Formats: sequence, C-alpha cells, structure tokens
Amino acid sequence: MLFQLTEEQKMIQQAMRDFAQTELLPGVIERDTHQKFPAEQIKKLGDLGIMGLMVDPKYDGAGMDTISYVLAMEELSKVDASTSVCVSVNNSLVCYGLEKFGSEEQKEKYLKPLARGEKIGAFCLSEPEAGSDATSQKTTAEDKGDYYLLNGTKNWITNGSSASIYLVIAQTNPELGHRGINCLIVERDMPGFVVGTKEDKMGIRGSDTHTLLFNDVKVPKANRVGEDGFGFKFAMQTLAGGRIGIAAQALGIASGALELALAYSKQRKAFGTEIKNHQAIQFKLADMATEVEAARLLCLKAAWTKDQGLDYNLISAQAKLYASEIAQRVTNEAVQIHGGYGYVKEYHVERMMRDAKITQIYEGTSEVQKIVISREVLKG
Ligand code: CAA
Repeated sequence: MLFQLTEEQKMIQQAMRDFAQTELLPGVIERDTHQKFPAEQIKKLGDLGIMGLMVDPKYDGAGMDTISYVLAMEELSKVDASTSVCVSVNNSLVCYGLEKFGSEEQKEKYLKPLARGEKIGAFCLSEPEAGSDATSQKTTAEDKGDYYLLNGTKNWITNGSSASIYLVIAQTNPELGHRGINCLIVERDMPGFVVGTKEDKMGIRGSDTHTLLFNDVKVPKANRVGEDGFGFKFAMQTLAGGRIGIAAQALGIASGALELALAYSKQRKAFGTEIKNHQAIQFKLADMATEVEAARLLCLKAAWTKDQGLDYNLISAQAKLYASEIAQRVTNEAVQIHGGYGYVKEYHVERMMRDAKITQIYEGTSEVQKIVISREVLKG
C-alpha cells in the first residue's frame, strides 16, 4: 500500500493551494456577506481546466484522476466552499453524468463547453416534496413523440442562475415508479424555463441556489440521457461520485479551520503565554488533527476506489458521512479556540462553521448516507 502522491497530483494540490490564497481569499468575506457568485474566479478555474478536471481530453477535459479532484476540492474548500461547490457540481454531477451516460452528440454539444469551463452545469433532482425521498418526483416529462413536455418545480438548485445547462430528473411513467423516471438536458433559453427565487442561505452564501420552474418546456427526445426510464439510476450513480466531491469539500472546510486554529493558537496569548501552551487547547487541536486526517484518508480511499473502476457506493457514502460530521465538530472547535474573535467575520472560522452545515445536507443528508452504508454492509 502506497500513501504517496504522484508529481502531477502534488502539482495540482499546490496550484489549487496558491489559487485559493491569491484568487479566493481576498474577496471571500464580501462574497459571503453580499451573496455574490464568484463568477470571475470560476472563469479562471475554467481556464485552468478545473471545471472539467476528470473529463477525458478528447472531450476537452483535463483528464486527471479522482485523487487529483479530491486534492483540488480540499484546497479550494479550505478558503471558499461557495466556489468549491460550483466546481464539484459541474465536475462530479454534470460532467461525469454526461461523460459516463450521454450520447456522443450530447458530449459534443454539452459536455465539451462544460469541461472547457465556458458553460456551467446544474443538477436538478430535489423538489419541494422530494428531498431524501428522491423517487417521489412530481416533475413530469410527458412523452409527446419526438419531445418531452416538462412541467414542475425544482428546489435548492446549486448554480441555479449561473448555469446554462441543466440535468433535470422527471417522471415520465408514474405507474413504473422509479423505473419511469428520466434525465433530460435542458438549456437555459428553452421557452417555459424560469429561474425562480434565490435562497438566502445560512452558509455557502456565495453560491447561487435557486428554485427552478418548468412550464411546458419542450425538450427534444435527443436530450434524454440514457435509455427510457434510466433517470433514477442515473441520479443515484452520479450522486455516488458527487458524494466524493462533497466529502472532499467538508474535509477542506475542516482542514482550513484547523490551519487557522493552529496559527491563532501560536500567536494569541492568555494567562501569560501563547494559548498553544495550554492543555485545554492542545487537546482540542489533537482531536481536530486526528479527525481531519481520518476524513482525508476516507476521501482518498473513495477516490482511489473510483479510479480503480471498483464499486465506490459504500466508501463514498462513508467518506461523505464522516467528513461532514467532523467538519461540524472541527469548525465549532476552531471558533471556540478563537474565542470572541472566532465569532466575527474577519477571522473566517464563523463562516466555515456555517458552511460546514450544508455538507451534512446536500447530495444526501447524513441519514441518507447511513441508509446507503447500512444496506451495503448488510448485503450478502
Ligand atoms: N447506483 C445504481 N443504481 C442504484 C444506486 C446506485 N448507487 N442506488 C440505488 N440504485 C437503484 C436500485 O438498484 C433500485 O433499482 P431496482 O429497483 O431496479 O433494483 C433503484 O435505484 C431504487 O433504489 P432504492 O430502492 O434503494 O431507492 P430508495 O427509494 O430506497 O432510495 C436513497 C434510496 C438512498 C434514500 C435515495 O433516494 C437517495 O439517495 N436519496 C437522496 C437524494 C439526494 O442525494 N439528493 C441530493 C440532491 S442533488 C444535490 O444536492 C446537488 C447539489 O445541488 C449540491
């Protein structure tokens, strides 16, 4: 067993660490305060190949592995989880879904501009009454011969207004249950598609999360991904990889908070010495560092499992469950170590604590991960 990164993996890690410091850190508090989407930063990441990091170069991607993706996600998320969620959804839900299951025409038309970072994608599964219970899709895609008539509402959609290519999950044959569900590619300018309300969120406030409305949108049959009725399995398989991205995001939020807590504890004095010399702080830092390392190992194992072409359903759910749980604890302790300073925006850790919460909710709540994990470990 080798716990060593390749030269290429180290390079992407360093490049993203530098990018986070020079391009993300300067405006991160302002973007969070004003809920400003990091459009310029995403454009620059696109120019660097990060929006299609794992896509085959023949579809204009950077052709890197999932380990590199985890490394990049950790480094970006250490500083700005609002930017990293956009990177994650574009890469592991939209690009992956199209590359793995799309037709050649769909890859030419939609995957290539997404991988080049010229367009942003969104993944539309959640509905007002279908969150964890994802089979209960109320959005309908009526089969009208050479097109589907799409009607319904999607909620909490990441990249909701900044995207121009949307993967929309909808029910075509309700009598078939989840086997009647399809995934359709919707373009932003298709008549009847409306970007609705923007959510005013607790965390990841720079990312733009919207309700989307579909009113008699005519989607050509050629825009269905996979066979008729494949939409639910498409969503589940795609989300299994997406969970590696969100696990890495949670890891990054936690490791970023740990780095800030370490630096602060070396500089802040109390009771006549730097607070790092107090055992109360040392014990916290020891727990935080151990939890971060355990989460990192789970994320990297999940990425490695996917890169080996093995089944990663279990390990991706475990990585996401654990990393998101420790992101909560580590950011909370980072605020505690900072004391009063931790409670104000300038010191960043309060934002990280708010950002960490969403990692226990999106791409499947912690409870959903436990359903997936328990089913897998009870198999056989
Ligand atoms: N790969 C392939 N197929 C899978 C699969 C997987 N990982 N998981 C399930 N399936 C298949 C099953 O085999 C089954 O097919 P058959 O009946 O043909 O055998 C079918 O899908 C239904 O599966 P289940 O019976 O397991 O379905 P369930 O109703 O019990 O639900 C669940 C299981 C795990 C709770 C699932 O509904 C789920 O993952 N829910 C959470 C949804 C979610 O993550 N939403 C996040 C929205 S996206 C988002 O947040 C993006 C963003 O913007 C950041």
